[in-house]
Amino acid sequence: MEIIKLESIEKYYRTRYEEVHALRGVSLSVNEGEKIVVMGPSGSGKSTLLHILAFLDNPDDGKRYILGEDKTQVGDTEAARLRRDMFGFVFQEFNIIPEMTVEENVQLPLKIKKVPLAEQKNYVEKALKAVGLIDKRNRKAYELSGGERQRVAIARAVASDSKVLVMDEPTGNLDEETEKEIVKLILGLNEQGKTLVVVTHSDRLARLIDGKLYHMEDGKLYK
Ligand SMILES: Nc1ncnc2c1ncn2[C@@H]1O[C@H](COP(=O)(O)OP(=O)(O)OP(=O)(O)O)[C@@H](O)[C@H]1O
Ligand SMILES: [Mg+2]
Repeated sequence: MEIIKLESIEKYYRTRYEEVHALRGVSLSVNEGEKIVVMGPSGSGKSTLLHILAFLDNPDDGKRYILGEDKTQVGDTEAARLRRDMFGFVFQEFNIIPEMTVEENVQLPLKIKKVPLAEQKNYVEKALKAVGLIDKRNRKAYELSGGERQRVAIARAVASDSKVLVMDEPTGNLDEETEKEIVKLILGLNEQGKTLVVVTHSDRLARLIDGKLYHMEDGKLYK
């Protein structure tokens, strides 16, 4: 089943000095349970593509469908609802909340979804064990290293129990051993039916994930 479809997407960023044409006619179809890997140089439009795919932004032109329904332009409320119901994210900038503990950060999306408390605890514990942070569950996020913060972001995405995991350089700051552990975790989730869309510069990560590979170059997406 096709969960997400992008058709001829165009995206511009307008700054004070210039206009950047970040996506040029990008089309992509994501089927349920699929693994998609997008590679490409810095500035080629990978994060922009993820933002549009996962309703953090609207396109300037083209079409976007979720489960066959046209969701090209959506307002803030509907975008928030779609994000909450469909997506778990690992952003390039992590977006974890420094003043919250490790556990609170991971639990947050489940709280927002109003998942029953016992289940919340269960998901959080599993995810923290999987990323090797169970012993640091009560630390404030600002007391963690960069790689540990990244693992909190991964645990949060994993615990969110969403259909699609969208990850932007999920293992960029991690050593090979930790990266392998994380990949094992996300591949396990994929085997249980979760869809993966992963952006990375790393050939090693792309190889480990072994998904359908796309290449992004100057705002265009190639197979
Ligand atoms: N908020 C913004 N305002 C203006 N230009 C932006 C903005 N975000 C991205 N861009 C520009 O759009 C283009 C694509 O950026 P994007 O972040 O999608 O690249 P990327 O492929 O994710 O790069 P990286 O690998 O470095 O993360 C770049 O030229 C970038 O400078
Ligand atoms: Mg990026």
